[in-house]
Amino acid sequence: MKDIEQRKADHIQVTMEEDVASRHDYWDDVKLVHNALPEIDLEEVDTSTVLFGRKLSCPLMVTAITGGYPQAEKINENLAKACSELQIGLGVGSQRAALEKGSLRSYEVIKEYDVPLRVANLGAPQLVPQRRKRTYGPEEARKAIDMIEADLLAIHLNFLQEVAQPEGDTNARGCFDGIRSLSRDLPILVKETGAGISRNVALRLKGIGVRGLDVAGAGGTSFSKVEGRRAAKLGDRRSERIAETFAEWGIPAPVSVMWADVGLPVIASGGIVNGLQAAKSMAVGAHCAGTARAVLREALESPQAVKERLSLMMDEMRITMFLTGSRNVRELGRVGYMLTGASKEWASADLEG
Ligand SMILES: Cc1cc2nc3c(=O)[nH]c(=O)nc-3n(C[C@H](O)[C@H](O)[C@H](O)COP(=O)(O)O)c2cc1C
Repeated sequence: MKDIEQRKADHIQVTMEEDVASRHDYWDDVKLVHNALPEIDLEEVDTSTVLFGRKLSCPLMVTAITGGYPQAEKINENLAKACSELQIGLGVGSQRAALEKGSLRSYEVIKEYDVPLRVANLGAPQLVPQRRKRTYGPEEARKAIDMIEADLLAIHLNFLQEVAQPEGDTNARGCFDGIRSLSRDLPILVKETGAGISRNVALRLKGIGVRGLDVAGAGGTSFSKVEGRRAAKLGDRRSERIAETFAEWGIPAPVSVMWADVGLPVIASGGIVNGLQAAKSMAVGAHCAGTARAVLREALESPQAVKERLSLMMDEMRITMFLTGSRNVRELGRVGYMLTGASKEWASADLEG
């Protein structure tokens, strides 16, 4: 297996076998106000929404996980089948592996299913020169979109991961211009990968015409921990220590949703493992919730297992809407909530980032 394919396989294995979640559940800092007299039947609650012009049965999507090596085909196919049956969105993992001649099929497979919102994926570090690596521009971006007939291309920001891995791409100068030039002609979503997006960064991205933001804040999968466990296996003590030091780094996911709410559609992610958390994310300002690690075990198993897990989350979202008296997704966005704990302190601080 080539390096890049091996790394993709390692990420799945480490995420499955090790504890790579953040110590904090920041979604627990958000409390929704109960409505004892909702005056609506549970079955009447309308969870449907329109996101980026696509109709979803519920504001939920599976965000980027994998692709580019043989086993990934099964994972993406299981996810695509479930997401098409449930009519929710799906993103694939970084397509660099395919552009570097890895398994194309492991991404293309999702085209065979009627997934209502498909999101392609490339990394911001690939938009600028890195050691001995190709730099990507509009041509590769278009290839990534065409590969899965995507509605959007996610450019992921993952510098926390890059500094925590032995072979990391740590040149960040020029990424903003790279994203700007792609945004001129292509529908670009910018996503973090577990450390969140600040208001300042959200405003800068809005200013260059990106279509939406996926905050992927702290509180869920910690890519610093993932890379730390990998480094330990490779016997790289220095990277392991750096990864430990930064294991809890990032803006709490609920706070990042609030800060990134600058007038673009916001996908809330980072630690969303149930439908109550997904509904809370909508109450604090998101337009859709995203989840990755919570469906990984099921994605390795079968499409039925993924479907069961996601439909449970969707039912929990519906129940939360019922218990807050929200008839539809718009009303869920206006539900009263209380912010507590560390998230409250973050949200009340006047911070630049
Ligand atoms: C095994 C694994 C691989 C991932 N690979 C990618 C990737 O290739 N591109 C990307 O943008 N995000 C990637 N992510 C990040 C997720 O899309 C998501 O932003 C992050 O895991 C936070 O969500 P969670 O707490 O629900 O896992 C990956 C996550 C996991 C668990």
